Amino acid sequence: MSRQQGTGNGTRRDRGMFRTKTVEQSIQDTEDPEHALKKSLSALDLTVFGVGVVIGTGIFVLTGKIAKEQAGPAVALSFVAAGVVCALAALCYAEFASTVPVAGSAYTFSYASLGELPAWIIGWDLILELALGCAVVAVGWSGYMRSLLDTAGWHLPAKLSGTQGGTFGFDLLACILVLALTVILVLGMKLSSRVTSVIVGIKVTVVLLVVIAGAFFISGANYRPFLPPTQAHVGESGYAAPLSQLIFGFTPSNFGVMGIFAAAAVVFFAFIGFDIVATAAEETRSPQRDVPRGILGSLAICTVLYVAVSIVVTGMQKYSQLSTDAPLADAFKSVGHPFYAGVISFGAAVGLTSVCMILLLGQSRVFFAMSRDGLLPQFFSRVHPRFGTPYRSTVLLGVVVAVVAGFTSIDVLAELVNIGTLFAFVVVAIGVVLLRRSRPDLPRSFRTPLVPLVPTLSVLASLWLMLNLPAETWLRFAVWMVIGFAVYFVYGHAHSRLGLRNKAAGKD
Ligand code: ALA
Repeated sequence: MSRQQGTGNGTRRDRGMFRTKTVEQSIQDTEDPEHALKKSLSALDLTVFGVGVVIGTGIFVLTGKIAKEQAGPAVALSFVAAGVVCALAALCYAEFASTVPVAGSAYTFSYASLGELPAWIIGWDLILELALGCAVVAVGWSGYMRSLLDTAGWHLPAKLSGTQGGTFGFDLLACILVLALTVILVLGMKLSSRVTSVIVGIKVTVVLLVVIAGAFFISGANYRPFLPPTQAHVGESGYAAPLSQLIFGFTPSNFGVMGIFAAAAVVFFAFIGFDIVATAAEETRSPQRDVPRGILGSLAICTVLYVAVSIVVTGMQKYSQLSTDAPLADAFKSVGHPFYAGVISFGAAVGLTSVCMILLLGQSRVFFAMSRDGLLPQFFSRVHPRFGTPYRSTVLLGVVVAVVAGFTSIDVLAELVNIGTLFAFVVVAIGVVLLRRSRPDLPRSFRTPLVPLVPTLSVLASLWLMLNLPAETWLRFAVWMVIGFAVYFVYGHAHSRLGLRNKAAGKD
């Protein structure tokens, strides 16, 4: 038997910050009835979940902003670049998810392979990704809703319309949305997955409408130049430039070839979510088979749609004229079709609801898994006796996200979400290689091809996108992680269930 199975006398790997939880232990913990989630999801449910969370603010809002400010029509190439990074990561996620089918995503995977401290870091990082991602999407949703309300003649006062252009306002709609979704999640997975399916149907229909109807309004002249020439940043601090440009001594600039990558690092937000499919592994009937299918399926569908949408929209309207608030709808207004614009705004508002809900679900599950392991107070991992949901962690995080969404503007947050997610990709890719070495015996229904080549490429590609994010984003991320270290050493290390078990067995 291998030493991770806990039968030895406590080797170095069993101890301290790098103690690993065995895969068997991870699965066994989920069977404890007080802490177990209901198993009700299929591969199709997971794919719907994936598409439900992946298509959102990224394609509905960021496409226009990034084409206009950083990449021009070449934003389609940025989507391809970001899609490649995600595909490499997805191949690693799929192996992990099919080997360690319990709640918690990259957090659980790294607990079983890299050890407790790296797992804590990744869990802490995932909370940032999912919570802020949810807040970003809620604020984007609120913008589309206000635009619909304006059309209907109802105008919210500026003080309740969110922070815009340096003017502070509480974002009432974003806050209400998050609280309402929290209640739905507490009531149970089944309800939320049924609601999600309907919403995803509307969203995909609207995206297809943009591609098919928009194709009739493309003008070839709008693609010239396809890759606009490099332009120096004007009036921004050096810290706002991508770290890669600062490291390699370039003058901070937009557009050009570097612009494609800087844009890819931002539109990457549009792909966030496929990894969340893995967080629902514990609630899946046949995780070994269905989780890889759910992850890879939703990623493939979204990549094709994004490239198609960005090609169509930059063909309908000159990139420099694209709107930064509702670019898909406004492109139709620019060619004289406000009716289509209204339908698209409605679909976007509905679609963003599902994104927000699934991000909220993902983060409550990561928090749940960390609390079940004792790294956060176990109070939060009690499952509701009637609804079978981790209601305490869901309510806590729902309230926090509602407050953040109410008080914060979206642009800076989106970059922070991206760096956190890319960091998780790096850890997961390393984890695949380590787990193959430490536990070659585990059944893997999905195996990442060409190990260690694919995980290595995944690490390099994710790091490259991270380097293309602004230096100030790196600083903010560092601050969040330092706080995380403090929480682990003050609370998690001493209360870890694994640590207590090891101590009882005389291993720690
Ligand atoms: N990928 C999701 C979005 O674009 C988070 O909104």
